Amino acid sequence: MKDSSLRSILITGGTGFIGSHTCLKLLEKGYFLYVVDSFINSSPKVLRKLEELFPQGSEKFNQQFNLIEGDIRDSTVIENIFINSINQNRCIEAVIHFAGLKSVEESLLNPSLYWDINVGGSIALVKVLEKYNCRTIVFSSSATVYNSISDSPLSENCEVRPCNPYGETKATVENILRSLYKNKRKDWRVINLRYFNPIGAHSSGVIGEDPIRKTNNLFPYLSKVASGNKEVLKIFGNDWPTFDGTAIRDYIHIMDLADVHCLALEYLLQKEESRFLCLNVGTGKGTSILELLKTYEIVNSCKIPFIYVDRRPGDIAISFAKTELATSILNWKPKFDISDMCRDGWNWQKLNPCGYQ
Ligand code: NAD
Ligand code: WQD
Repeated sequence: MKDSSLRSILITGGTGFIGSHTCLKLLEKGYFLYVVDSFINSSPKVLRKLEELFPQGSEKFNQQFNLIEGDIRDSTVIENIFINSINQNRCIEAVIHFAGLKSVEESLLNPSLYWDINVGGSIALVKVLEKYNCRTIVFSSSATVYNSISDSPLSENCEVRPCNPYGETKATVENILRSLYKNKRKDWRVINLRYFNPIGAHSSGVIGEDPIRKTNNLFPYLSKVASGNKEVLKIFGNDWPTFDGTAIRDYIHIMDLADVHCLALEYLLQKEESRFLCLNVGTGKGTSILELLKTYEIVNSCKIPFIYVDRRPGDIAISFAKTELATSILNWKPKFDISDMCRDGWNWQKLNPCGYQ
C-alpha cells in the first residue's frame, strides 16, 4: 500500500466542525489535502488555527493543506481542483464529503435549499469524480436517516425512512452512491458514515464548533449557558419514557469521529475491489440530557441553570447506535467518554467565547 504521505484527498466542507477536526488528523497522518468550502457555515480563520496546531510547522502545513473557497454545486470549482492536483503531480485519490447543511429545523422551513445544496451539490460532485476516475468516497450521513419508531440500539439494518427534509437529503445521497456502486461502474468504493451526536472539541481548545447559521443543538447551547452567554437551558420535555424523563442520545467525541474518518479512508484505499458500506458512528451508549448536564457541571465546576419546556416537535425519546459493524470493519473503538466531551467542549467555549471571531 502507498504511504499516506503520498496520497492526495479532496475534503468538501473541510473548515466546518467535523471537517476541521478530521483535517487535523489527516494532516498529522501525512495526507495532502485539497479542502473546498463555501464558508456558508464556517470561517476561513480555521486555516490559521489548523496551522497553529500542526506539529511540523508552517512550511510543511502549507505544502499539505490547500484551501479553496468555492461551492460544490459549481462543477468548474471542483474540476479546477482536480486539474491542479494533476498538474502538481498529486492526483486526488479519494474524497471525504462533509459539505452540506445540517439543521433539521431549517430544512423544514426551506426544503428546496437543502435539496439543492445537499443533493444537488453531491450530484455535481460525483459527476466530476467520475470524469476524473476518482471513485472512492466517504460520505457524511446521519442517524436521522432512520425511522422514528425503531428501538435503540439502531443497527444499520433498521429501516431507513427519515421524517424531515434534512434526513431525506442524506438518505437520497446514500441512494445515489448505492446506485453508482451497483449500476454504473463496479469500481466505486463508498462508506456512508451515519453519525449520531458529535460533540466536544480538540483538547487544545484551538478548534471547536462555531456554526454561522442558526442551530438548536443541545451541546453548543449548553456550553453557552455554562459561560453565561445564554441565561438558561430549555430542556425539551421531562416526560419522555426514560429513567429520568429526559431524552437519551448517543454522544460521540469529535476526535473519535475524526479517527473514524481516517480509518474509513484507509480501509477504502486498501481495497482493490468495489465496496458499499453504511456504518453507524456512535459510542453505543445512551446518555440522558440530565446526565450530560450534571456531568458538564461536575467536570467543569460550573452551574447550568435549566427549565423544562414542552417537547420539541419531531424529537424521539431514545436514540443510540449499535456499533459492532464499524468496530469490526474499521477495528475502531471510541477512546473518549462523556466527561472528556464535556471537558473539551468547555475548554473550547472558555477560550473562544465568540467562536472564531
Ligand atoms: P458544518 O456546517 O460545521 O460543516 C459543513 C461545512 O460544509 C461548512 O464548513 C460549510 O461552510 C460547508 N458547506 C456547506 N455547503 C457547501 C457548499 N455548497 N459548498 C461548499 N461548502 C459547503 O457541519 P458539521 O457538523 O461539520 O457536519 C458535516 C457533515 O456531517 C454535514 O454534511 C452534516 O450534515 C453531517 N452530519 C453532521 C452531524 C452533526 O451533528 N454535526 C450529524 C450527522 C451528520
Ligand atoms: C439532543 C436532545 C433535544 C436543544 C440532531 C439532528 C441529527 C444530528 C444531530 C445532523 C434532544 C434536546 C436540544 C435544547 C434540548 N445532526 N434539546 N434543549 O435532535 O438528537 O439530533 O443533531 O445530522 O441529525 O437531528 O440533537 O442536539 O438537537 O438534541 O432539550 O436547547 O437535546 O430535544 O432530545 P438531535 P440535538
